[in-house]
Amino acid sequence: MPARVTRRGLGLLGLSAAAPALAAPAAGGLAAIARARGITFGAAAQHSLLTGDAAYAAAFAAEAGLLVPEWEAKWADLQPEEGRFDTAPLDGLLSWAQERAMPVRGHALVWHNAMPDWLGRALAEGRERALSVMAAHFDKVLAHTRLRIRDWDVVNEPVANPPGSDVPQAGEGTLRDTPWLRALGPAYIDTALRMARERDATLRLTLNEYGIEEDTPDAAEKRRRLLDLLRGLLERGAPLDAVGIQAHLQLRRPFSPAPFAAFLAELRRMGLAVLITEMDIREAPDAPASLPARDALVAERAYAFVSTALEGGARSVLTWGLSDRYSWLRQEPAVALGPDRSHRGLPLDEEWRRKPMWQALARAFQGG
Ligand code: XIL
Repeated sequence: MPARVTRRGLGLLGLSAAAPALAAPAAGGLAAIARARGITFGAAAQHSLLTGDAAYAAAFAAEAGLLVPEWEAKWADLQPEEGRFDTAPLDGLLSWAQERAMPVRGHALVWHNAMPDWLGRALAEGRERALSVMAAHFDKVLAHTRLRIRDWDVVNEPVANPPGSDVPQAGEGTLRDTPWLRALGPAYIDTALRMARERDATLRLTLNEYGIEEDTPDAAEKRRRLLDLLRGLLERGAPLDAVGIQAHLQLRRPFSPAPFAAFLAELRRMGLAVLITEMDIREAPDAPASLPARDALVAERAYAFVSTALEGGARSVLTWGLSDRYSWLRQEPAVALGPDRSHRGLPLDEEWRRKPMWQALARAFQGG
């Protein structure tokens, strides 16, 4: 049974006991439009931007009904040195969200990126050490966040891209080669899920993955790999509730509803909930010159994808950021569009204006 929530417990979290009941999202925003159909719309955000840019905070509060920390709940931020936890930025986000009665998802407990250097060294010391650092991190983080985060990406991106793809990632079998895999073998995923469940019996445990959305041979193979992994986890009795589909879509790749819908149906048959967790849309290098033409292509893809996801049973659609101004698609050289133009892959433009992608999401939420 989950521990009783005491006033002192709330105080330790820096949270007020007088939490407001979940407020209705701002009228007219995407979250309200989605909510009318029983769908959650939310987005990733960073604490420093929400507190440092009032226009951004206002847009976020107007549009989003759920917040995902873009950085603040990753290992490197939460435990930069072994045993030294820094929850201040995450606590700031949790308070910001709580003041607006906005739920928060956790992202991510076990991932091969955003690992502090010490963690890589510890995992290389072998199995016992790896189990003990995982347990210590889960102990602290899940206890600290339990009142405010009820859904965590426990394992992020465990499946290897197939050979011959843009970025192949040979590991053991079809799992990605990561320090966790090397330390604990393929069972690291089962172990992480079990450790999370042991610490919080009613937390929703999600496995999050990318590269499984589009109509390419690589994505088809990665879907197959993921389904195999999930079947094995469920057969072994690993506690898993949901699959997060990141949906970092790319216009240079085709999307077809049928194979994606079949994949979603398979996930649902396995009894798993499906969330779209990190949607954004990278434009193709040969994108048209005019902005309206570019935005129309992005919107068309957003509508096709989200309407298929909703038809297939997804009930949460989260974008990775809200405005092009702060999108990682503009900041990360590996995913940038080019030297003289940048992606327009999120619902709002850099001046907080709603773009055709916003309209496409609204239309998909309204059921066409
Ligand atoms: C990204 C952030 O948006 C960037 O700012 C950071 O530099 C790298 O990570 N898949 C994930 C996210 O699960 O955590 C990643 O976020 C984007 C890809």
